[in-house]
Amino acid sequence: MTNALIVYGTRYGATASTSEDIAETLSKEGLDVKVVNLKKDKVKDITEYELIIVGSGIQIHKWTGEPDKFLKKFQKELAEKKVALFVCCGSAEPIDEKEDKAESRENARTKYLKEKAAKYNLQPIAMGLFGGVYNFNNMSWFFRKTMSAIKPQLEAAGVPETEPGLYDTRDTNAIRNWAKEVAQKV
Ligand SMILES: Cc1cc2nc3c(=O)[nH]c(=O)nc-3n(C[C@H](O)[C@H](O)[C@H](O)COP(=O)(O)O)c2cc1C
Repeated sequence: MTNALIVYGTRYGATASTSEDIAETLSKEGLDVKVVNLKKDKVKDITEYELIIVGSGIQIHKWTGEPDKFLKKFQKELAEKKVALFVCCGSAEPIDEKEDKAESRENARTKYLKEKAAKYNLQPIAMGLFGGVYNFNNMSWFFRKTMSAIKPQLEAAGVPETEPGLYDTRDTNAIRNWAKEVAQKV
């Protein structure tokens, strides 16, 4: 059985539930999967894992610090393993009608995934670009104020409000299909 480790960093929760979704699909495909929220727990050793998936949410064009530190810490070991990266971000599912969706996705793929892989000399077997959530309940006062301008856009774009104040732009099928592809590559 292939041992897989998913590590992630999140601010608003999208990367956490996406990680759980990926883990569920990988388990169904026969992998033994451990999921670690790096903001809560540390990983000391990755020897036992053949597949490592590293995920982060994006805020103001930046990954969360912890998965980035993970990539730095284990850079050497990761070069010998199967690695996949994914991000949850607004640019994957732009809500502004005027924005070119394909261009936004391509820019995000370059900035948030390809450049990150290059930074740590990684050749990932897959790079997943997924939508995110806009959770107005746990944004800071400042972000809630500045981001509230996009609420009408979220509503106009028909983004589901899955709980009061939480809009989810993710495509669950795309996440599960990506995880299946990853499972088939290991
Ligand atoms: C203050 C703020 C800034 C954001 N900045 C970006 C950004 O620069 N690029 C992007 O694609 N998405 C951006 N987003 C959307 C987030 O990527 C989205 O909320 C995602 O769910 C974050 O991942 P997390 O839920 O795991 O923290 C931003 C969201 C917020 C609230």
